Amino acid sequence: MVGLGPKKPPSRKGTGSIADIPKDLKQEIANLERLFVVPTEKLKEITHHFVSELDKGLSVEGGSIPMNPTWVMSFPDGYETGTFLALDMGGTNLRVCEITLTDQKSEFDIIQSKYRMPEELKTGTSEELWDYIADCVHQFVETHHEDLTKLEKLPLGFTFSYPASQSYVDEGVLQRWTKGFDIAGVEGENVVPMFEAALAAKGTPIKLAALINDTTGTLIASAYTDTKMKIGCIFGTGCNAAYMENAGSIPKLAHMNLPADMPMAINCEWGAFDNEHKVLPRTPYDIIIDKDSPRPGQQAFEKMIAGLYLGELFRLVMVDLHDNHETHIFANQDIDKLRRPYTLDSSFLSAIEDDPWENLQETFDLFNEKLSITPTQPELVLIRRTAELIGTRAARLSACGVAAISIKKDYKTCHVGADGSVFNKYPHFKKRGAQALKEILDWPEKTNPKDEDPIEILAAEDGSGVGAALIAALTLKRVKAGNLCGILHPENFV
Ligand code: GLC
Repeated sequence: MVGLGPKKPPSRKGTGSIADIPKDLKQEIANLERLFVVPTEKLKEITHHFVSELDKGLSVEGGSIPMNPTWVMSFPDGYETGTFLALDMGGTNLRVCEITLTDQKSEFDIIQSKYRMPEELKTGTSEELWDYIADCVHQFVETHHEDLTKLEKLPLGFTFSYPASQSYVDEGVLQRWTKGFDIAGVEGENVVPMFEAALAAKGTPIKLAALINDTTGTLIASAYTDTKMKIGCIFGTGCNAAYMENAGSIPKLAHMNLPADMPMAINCEWGAFDNEHKVLPRTPYDIIIDKDSPRPGQQAFEKMIAGLYLGELFRLVMVDLHDNHETHIFANQDIDKLRRPYTLDSSFLSAIEDDPWENLQETFDLFNEKLSITPTQPELVLIRRTAELIGTRAARLSACGVAAISIKKDYKTCHVGADGSVFNKYPHFKKRGAQALKEILDWPEKTNPKDEDPIEILAAEDGSGVGAALIAALTLKRVKAGNLCGILHPENFV
């Protein structure tokens, strides 16, 4: 419902109520609701299929969810110590950190620098990419270390948040680019030597200890401070999760004869769920997003949920309602700016959903300033409802993944550590996700609203920084104990 709610400031003149808008726009809203609302039964059906796809990904035949073993083979106990470098190559930023895990249980110090990931790099050449990354790392260590030779003692955890096959923790063969990246010559290759060669060319003597996915980092960093953490999730530019499996339940690793109860973190890469389009309720807009992306047919689930796509979905709806529907929203206005693909990011939708005014004044201003469009009052109501529908669908579908892992692992109660811009900044995302989990898992009403849900999705510790450092520390511990399973270059830890 637009314009209601306890936190609203006093209404400004105008009405944001759906009751007052013309019939044809009301009809348009009803159509969008039909497309975007995901009822409980559908959530359950998706979750059910998800559970079997998680299993398939672990099997020898494999499925579309990669379920990548990561060679992260234990949870931290909180007593890990040491100083590590971490490099975080996410979808939007690049971050270099130096993390000291202190003698105090579960405590750490961190210094870090953030660099923008230039848009052109995402579709540039492999050389440009690695050179830029090496430059950022070099700048960071030069600023913080006078004597670069001492760097050899600082193992680096590289958070490379893309699907990578790993036979060892310190290698990673890129399966395919996701999140709009499209750089030739990297897919099918081990990215570690490319990264190391670029560092060597700058004379930066850093040794890579572990290649990490942001979800695995999130799982491990969250478990460092909260032992109830069982799943790590990212809801950001992309969407994905990791959890701890037993080696005995990973048929595709059977040839390695690992002890059946040996833990192995799995990077699910669940963004690829339902690439076959069996169960997700795709709209014509989802189909366009996929078709126009650099990797059509890939990341079906992610493309309905992740921050990279939410603004684009909204834009496609608006353009369609202007061009092709009888209502012709924004009639006689120049919508050229709105026609530019990917011109709106998820913060645009956040701002619409956050607009506290009864007359949706901030949304009106936003459309004026960013798109040079002057919406009418009824159009503003439609805009708000569209944002709500897209944001709610994303949160509800995400919950299917969390529910599927919980069902697969028989977790009746646990904590799920989540990070990413959508989780942290998108209005109501957490509440909507929690509501969907409750519907899928049939939880009874709480007697006290302040009680925790059986499965709680909570803000995680910094997985790509602290998590990467912890994984480097856990790997080092393993080398010291003489357990070299899944480690290609143990000499990097000496
Ligand atoms: C994409 C990547 C995945 C990452 C996620 C969140 O899905 O493929 O590796 O974890 O985005 O950043």
